Amino acid sequence: MEQLKKTAEIIKQSKHLIAFTGAGISAESNIPTFRGKNGIWNKYNPKLLDITYFKNNSDLCWKHITDMFFSVIDKAYPNYAHYFLYELEQQNILKSIITQNIDNLHQKAGNKNIIEFHGNTRELICTKCKKKYNVKDFDLLKETPKCLCGSILKPDFVFFGENIPVDAYKKAINEINLCDVMLIIGTTGEIMPASILPYEAKNNGSLIIEINPEESNYTNKITDYFIKQKAVIASNKLKQFIL
Ligand code: APR
Repeated sequence: MEQLKKTAEIIKQSKHLIAFTGAGISAESNIPTFRGKNGIWNKYNPKLLDITYFKNNSDLCWKHITDMFFSVIDKAYPNYAHYFLYELEQQNILKSIITQNIDNLHQKAGNKNIIEFHGNTRELICTKCKKKYNVKDFDLLKETPKCLCGSILKPDFVFFGENIPVDAYKKAINEINLCDVMLIIGTTGEIMPASILPYEAKNNGSLIIEINPEESNYTNKITDYFIKQKAVIASNKLKQFIL
């Protein structure tokens, strides 16, 4: 309880709090995480999201990608951890969220300043001419989506072998340079270059708060305050002392 109170106080007193989120924040919205017992990578082969493999096997990849992401995300709703971040933004305590997630749940919760480090599932992008389309214009269960130019469309999120969107990268670095407290929720910190962002924050003198029911790659290295709880429970507890 004392540690929670102290953590809440740090959040309240922060000058530039940013959140860094991963799949764990959406686990309680019934979106599977990537790693762990029921993780996506236990069910599907990660090469389905390898850009070269995708270009050569797009029908097969699209079938699985639709099951893995689009069918699930469509039906998902934010949980209290997402709404907690919305409330913190409303109070002008939280300045931005850098998310690795492509599930749109921070947007659905109402947050405005969201940096989607790994892209999004709202749009599709042509593998050749880079034209973008709204995903709603396609029936993904029926056909592999194609561009007007005839090439295959891919989801506008980052595949293995692709770069981080330049704009998101620049904005994230800017926020990392500004932040004095970073709140990490639900990420293992396994995937580069996203995984180095908390290290950059720490190097810049930021305090690191982490919420995760399991230890991550950050916990015993850079985390100053570790709340070993699921995101919804931790958010509800912190809320009592902040909002
Ligand atoms: N609340 C908070 N954290 C949770 C919860 C929960 N209810 N349930 C699980 N977690 C934690 C797990 O303990 C784990 O540390 O969420 C984390 C999920 O880790 P990953 O599945 O590795 O997800 P993430 O870190 O977001 O993955 C990074 O990997 O494959 C890529 O591009 C994909 O963006 C993704 C990246």
